Amino acid sequence: VCVILHLHFNDFKTNLGQEGHEWPTVTCPFLVSQQTITPIDDTRHLLVSGYMDQRVKGLDVRIISIFNKNTTHPMHCLFCCAGSLSTSTPASILPHPEDFGFAYVTTDVMCHIPQDCNATHVTVLTEPFTQNPTKPSNHTWLPLRNRNKHLSDQEKLKFNFTVCISSLFGDYDNVLQFVQTLEMYRLLGVDRVVIYKTSCSRNFDRALQIYSQEGFLEVVPWPIDKYLNPSPGWLFSRSGGDVHYFGQMTTLNECIYRNMERSRYVLLNDMDEIIMPYQHNNLMSLMDALQTQHPETGVFLIENQIFSKTIFEPSRRFHLPQWEGVPGVNILEHIHKEKPNGKVSYLYKIIIQPRMVEQTSVHRVIKAFSSKVLVPLDVCGIIHVRDSFRGPDYKNFQMDKRLWDFQELLIPRVDEVLKKVGLLNETGRAEE
Ligand SMILES: *[C@@H]1O[C@H](CO)[C@@H](O)[C@H](O)[C@H]1NC(C)=O
Ligand SMILES: *[C@@H]1O[C@H](CO)[C@@H](O)[C@H](O)[C@H]1NC(C)=O
Ligand SMILES: *[C@@H]1O[C@H](CO)[C@@H](O)[C@H](O)[C@H]1NC(C)=O
Ligand SMILES: *[C@@H]1O[C@H](CO)[C@@H](O)[C@H](O)[C@H]1NC(C)=O
Repeated sequence: VCVILHLHFNDFKTNLGQEGHEWPTVTCPFLVSQQTITPIDDTRHLLVSGYMDQRVKGLDVRIISIFNKNTTHPMHCLFCCAGSLSTSTPASILPHPEDFGFAYVTTDVMCHIPQDCNATHVTVLTEPFTQNPTKPSNHTWLPLRNRNKHLSDQEKLKFNFTVCISSLFGDYDNVLQFVQTLEMYRLLGVDRVVIYKTSCSRNFDRALQIYSQEGFLEVVPWPIDKYLNPSPGWLFSRSGGDVHYFGQMTTLNECIYRNMERSRYVLLNDMDEIIMPYQHNNLMSLMDALQTQHPETGVFLIENQIFSKTIFEPSRRFHLPQWEGVPGVNILEHIHKEKPNGKVSYLYKIIIQPRMVEQTSVHRVIKAFSSKVLVPLDVCGIIHVRDSFRGPDYKNFQMDKRLWDFQELLIPRVDEVLKKVGLLNETGRAEE
């Protein structure tokens, strides 16, 4: 069940005066949502999480939500102010502009907090709230996060780089590529990876557990399939379903706000993508250089490069025996990337300063408080090992051995993780 009882109903103080018509002193929060998805009562809308966000004048709170486009009645925010209920305030409903034809769209519910309210929790209602002594409030509350404005950056910024991975679903089993990719992130200076998980294979789940236990990975449960019929595709007319790609837009935006206080930079890329600096050894020196050139910029677009997973590097020197039984792609074996064909690519992934961004899509930022910069491919590009749409002819591809610069550090780290996952072929290792 999705709620915990913080107090019992007996704990409500019905503080009726002599005349019997004073409002009761209602305590809150009574029921706090323990889920990442919380339906709004009497609607088809879903709330995800509430954040303090005072970057837009006159508004204090942004609630990342998923709204049904068809139902657009006015909504209201109610706050729990350090133990007592506020009056409600009208909500601004801001649907994100890209819905790709789906009925459900990522939506920001934005509200003003009433004066003198030290808000700790928020909920969204279809009617303005009036206290009623005969009907104690039992709303489901969302905790209000990012309430640490008073702390210094030094106290808040726990991470320099956080990678947000927006959706893990189906029977995803690409363990080898995942472990190689996470270890590459670590070598490049990533401090934290956040993954929104609907489902995956058992082996994969084991790898997630290993990384979560050591604190490098934060797995956010994402049971979107309990509430909607999520689409495995990005376009309604092609794949059907209620919501774009398992709610990817929502989780990407949620991840930005989740990391706004605590991470200097956020990388928005998929699980099979590595944002790779070509002139620097790690992301911090890359970003130091980029920010020196572009001091006011908080949005950096990184171009995609597709490395064919069906073309193997001929010497097979990284076809290692200990990885023989591990499901998934060995990225060290795929060094042929598609040659640019003169057309401009729009398939960017993004490095952002989360505090500069208001709304994002997958390949571009929708609303930001800063300009954006397109980073040249010789400075930084995405290593994305996957199926190529080009024919298998070598002339369509060029070699890129950048990953091999890290192999000496990478391989033992991958082995160590696979051993913990229970997938390393120990005989293979010994024979080597
Ligand atoms: C939304 O409303 C339109 C027009 O009333 C209707 O045709 C459509 O089926 C509705 N879609 C959903 C998902 O309810
Ligand atoms: C707001 O409430 C929190 C406890 O929920 C408390 O720690 C904080 O000091 C309060 N802030 C103000 C300004 O009263
Ligand atoms: C809370 O309110 C709903 C109706 O809004 C009601 O169905 C439910 O029983 C109430 N829960 C409790 C614990 O009283
Ligand atoms: C972030 O980078 C700075 C500068 O390189 C470094 O001093 C600091 O320790 C890093 N913080 C974390 C959490 O890694």
